[in-house]
Amino acid sequence: MERLVGKIALITGAASGIGLATSEVFLRNGATVIMTDRDSESGNAAAESFATPKTCRFLAHDVASESDWRKVMNTIEAEFGALDILVNNAGIQLTRSLEETTLDDWRHVFGINAEGTFIGTRMAIEVMKHRGGSIINVASTYSMVADGLNAAYCASKAASRHFTKAAALYCADRNYKIRVNSVHPGVIMTPMLEREIVAVSAERGLPDTTAVEAEWRRISPLGIGEGVDIAEGILYLASDASKYVTASDLVIDGGHISR
Ligand code: NAI
Repeated sequence: MERLVGKIALITGAASGIGLATSEVFLRNGATVIMTDRDSESGNAAAESFATPKTCRFLAHDVASESDWRKVMNTIEAEFGALDILVNNAGIQLTRSLEETTLDDWRHVFGINAEGTFIGTRMAIEVMKHRGGSIINVASTYSMVADGLNAAYCASKAASRHFTKAAALYCADRNYKIRVNSVHPGVIMTPMLEREIVAVSAERGLPDTTAVEAEWRRISPLGIGEGVDIAEGILYLASDASKYVTASDLVIDGGHISR
């Protein structure tokens, strides 16, 4: 059954990993998908491989830039006339010793993971408030449990998680019919995780990534997940099947944080 027929969706960070998998799942479920990313080459190639220009468009977009957000929203309003779903998925991870994390590092991570989510949510509310919608913020289990080598990342994802709840209450209090929820992936095999495995191995002075990769495979009772595992959860929150769900945390982590 197609669950997003007639819906217009914007997915950020759609050129890779979870955003790419979510774009594919949304298209399969009948949505019109606007894929955005700062990586235009991969984003354009992915959009072209998926569908006709009518159902799938790629737009270049740095989520840390308010003016980029404005341009993207203006294009969507002009070309599609509405926005029903926003998936704030774009994110970066900085695996670095806390003592070596500079203020610039911290601000860079927050600029994308937390501020990008804030700007996008605020602008989407503007567009959605008359006919309703669903906003899904992709945070992380690192918003709930911490990691010593990811201080800025953990803090930015915790900010995104709590902001989600504030935004959800704001919309419900004003009767906007906009639901706002967060999704918390655990260990998912994407280019981000591959880079993380390399960074942790280097930090430990290991000759290769074998030991760290094996550790990640054991960390969740169900092992390492795939982008599509997260995409299916995002689909639920985007669809009308979750009409009574707002301000919620959807943890998809193969049991990791319950250990
Ligand atoms: P990824 O690195 O494969 O994909 C992220 C995408 O975001 C890339 O295409 C990248 O170009 C884009 N991006 C980065 N900065 C951007 C910016 N300023 N503006 C626009 N696009 C930008 O990573 P993955 O794994 O697919 O991550 C997606 C989301 O899931 C992120 O928010 C990440 O923090 C979160 N997540 C991922 C986990 C994992 O194990 N892979 C675990 C928990 C959370």
